[in-house]
Amino acid sequence: MPFDTKRLVAKQDLIQILEAGRWTPTAHNMQNYEIIVIDDDKVLASIGNIKRPVSETFIRENYQQLSFSEEELLMKKTGLLAAMFPPSWRNPDFRLDIKDEKADLSMQRTFPTCPVMLIVVYDPGKRAPASEGDFLGILSLGCLMENMWLMANSLGISFHIMSSLSSDTVEEEVKNILHVPENLKIAFSCRLGYTISTPAKYLRVRRDIKDFTYHNKFGTKLSFV
Ligand SMILES: Cc1cc2nc3c(=O)[nH]c(=O)nc-3n(C[C@H](O)[C@H](O)[C@H](O)COP(=O)(O)O)c2cc1C
Repeated sequence: MPFDTKRLVAKQDLIQILEAGRWTPTAHNMQNYEIIVIDDDKVLASIGNIKRPVSETFIRENYQQLSFSEEELLMKKTGLLAAMFPPSWRNPDFRLDIKDEKADLSMQRTFPTCPVMLIVVYDPGKRAPASEGDFLGILSLGCLMENMWLMANSLGISFHIMSSLSSDTVEEEVKNILHVPENLKIAFSCRLGYTISTPAKYLRVRRDIKDFTYHNKFGTKLSFV
């Protein structure tokens, strides 16, 4: 959904979003993040113009999450509707053929514009103790994302996560533009702003509570009657 680039996010609202981020619970209170707030048109344009390469692995892994009709998605209750995927990608043995016109076109995709972007970076060298693969550190970054997302939405501001800014090739370009030190990684990035029109209704699915809860031991369903 395109953002209205002329409708700016009020400084007071931005501060509230960052304040919600500031009070995020993090493992060992490590506060393992730095946030770059970008509102300079030139910097936004430089990031926006980065080409998003298509990752074969991404498409193949995503295949597990795709449904090809609303009925299938309603039945699965998880994943995404594959409307945005060209038919040549809807195949578990997908191989990227750069001569494929559709794949080539999608390689030209750039990032949509917005009035403010947040880039959250962290130091993977700073790990939460006793946390295999820094699981607790990564979880803390997820809490940061959620805190800011909820605050933005409560202020009527859209918060659009862009995972592809953290993909290997794109991440390097973003880090160069923003002078991010070599040892830091991008945790997540988001666009903030107001959408041009009311977002179109789309099918949202979730598993039911009974699908993921158990009673006293794993495997025994929790009953609500
Ligand atoms: C860690 C994380 C990464 C996400 N990355 C993206 C993204 O790159 N692009 C996007 O449009 N949505 C992204 N999302 C949003 C999810 O796709 C969305 O929450 C999910 O499809 C369910 O949609 P719904 O909440 O609108 O029902 C992300 C969400 C999370 C928690």
